[in-house]
Amino acid sequence: MTTSRPVRVTVNGVHYEAMVEPRMTLVDFLRGELGLTGTHVGCEHGVCGACTVLLNGQTVRSCLMLAVQADGASLMTVEGLSREGKLHPIQEAFMEEHGLQCGFCTPGFLMSTLELLQHHPDPTDDEIKEALGGNLCRCTGYQSIIKSVHLAAEKKALRLPHWIG
Ligand code: FES
Ligand code: FES
Repeated sequence: MTTSRPVRVTVNGVHYEAMVEPRMTLVDFLRGELGLTGTHVGCEHGVCGACTVLLNGQTVRSCLMLAVQADGASLMTVEGLSREGKLHPIQEAFMEEHGLQCGFCTPGFLMSTLELLQHHPDPTDDEIKEALGGNLCRCTGYQSIIKSVHLAAEKKALRLPHWIG
């Protein structure tokens, strides 16, 4: 029998503590234990990027991390983007430029875009391709995703919530 281990994290500004199996992945912890199902699970092998979240302000693939490895961290998931029912400018940009269809990949793209705009507030096409190269989409043309990121940049969408360092 495996012994559960404590995990203490802040997710979208809310503190959580739980006992988890040491082998539980971070994405299963977010979705199954905390009910934050906006982070999607696609390949479970670090390939598709659907499970991308911010850990201490940097993108990670939550299917490749164990929940116990995130102990003490500040996390942000796609649920942390909107505020009081108002979409984040990145979400607005993806909606306005048709940067999604089924939406399965979208949480990962949004989180990767947020990280990109922190470092490149006005990114070039190449910088966008480089930053989003690890996010796969099976149904939206990548051109409209690139346009969405440019529009997000125009909207000055780089702001991070105050709880992310
Ligand atoms: S589910 Fe994590 S990268 Fe695909
Ligand atoms: S919008 Fe369907 S996979 Fe990207």
